[in-house]
Amino acid sequence: MVAENILTPADFILPLFVCEGRGKINAIESMPGVYRYSVDQLAPIVEEASSLGISAYAIFPQVDSADKTPDARESYNPDNLICRSIRAIRASHPEVGVICDAALDPFNSDGHDGLLVDGHVINDETVEILCRQSVVQAEAGCHVIAPSDMMDGRVGAIRRELDAAGFEGVRIMSYAAKYASAFYGPFRDAIGSSGALKGDKNSYQMDPANSDEALRETGQDIEEGADMVMVKPGLPYIDIVTRVKQTYGVPTFAYQVSGEYAMLKAAANNGWLDNDKVVLESLMAFKRAGADGILTYLAIEACRLLEARG
Ligand code: PBG
Repeated sequence: MVAENILTPADFILPLFVCEGRGKINAIESMPGVYRYSVDQLAPIVEEASSLGISAYAIFPQVDSADKTPDARESYNPDNLICRSIRAIRASHPEVGVICDAALDPFNSDGHDGLLVDGHVINDETVEILCRQSVVQAEAGCHVIAPSDMMDGRVGAIRRELDAAGFEGVRIMSYAAKYASAFYGPFRDAIGSSGALKGDKNSYQMDPANSDEALRETGQDIEEGADMVMVKPGLPYIDIVTRVKQTYGVPTFAYQVSGEYAMLKAAANNGWLDNDKVVLESLMAFKRAGADGILTYLAIEACRLLEARG
């Protein structure tokens, strides 16, 4: 009765990695317990998760390297891996919500979220491609577009393009305060962008030293039409979650990223931490901080733990 916060399956968004092929469920070495699923294997995993109460899924593609180019044109191919995945989930589980990134890194042969020209990521040309990518994803049935690229002005541009294409109802969850973080390492392994990544993402992702800047970035995205905002990574930036929620009062999400998952699992698998306890404690921290929802690779596991606890 005196607990101020409570965790429920409705708090979780499950990130899912998808890959080409059939019948594939491939392990990701740096994320023990997380897999890449071929499109035909999505229905069973969504079935398992949704039976536990998880109602939203964020899909991330590991695109074949042959389809990665410097102009990232596969990102707006209406039949690309991400669009096929969206259609598969919408067909098998029409009741769940589907969220997809707008960013070029899965499709870009140099691993950047935007177009790399002469060693620089160029903003405005990237935004044009992000708009095309967002529209094909919406056409495939995506409910929420999540720009994770951190280009300037992309939320407003994507909003206008979605509206013009008749997708007024498709929402935007912006990665509003996304830091240039080493905690994304395992994710980049998972989508196969780490090997190729030239340089770092410091020219568009945020400096971990900054906090006021997170509010300016978030304010700008809200102004441009973001329906929901996200802070990323999660626990190392939990102070930002609280500041954003308290300042703007909009639906605020946190992404417990791949490196946070890897860190927790590495310690738990070594017997250094009590897995079940730290899973729930780490997630409760987000609720306490003010998050309305959490993107977490622990979602299924956490639902089972909550269920067992009754
Ligand atoms: C791509 C993107 C990244 C993540 C989500 N979308 C990685 C990056 O910016 O390099 C990271 C998620 C995670 O680490 O779990 N724009």
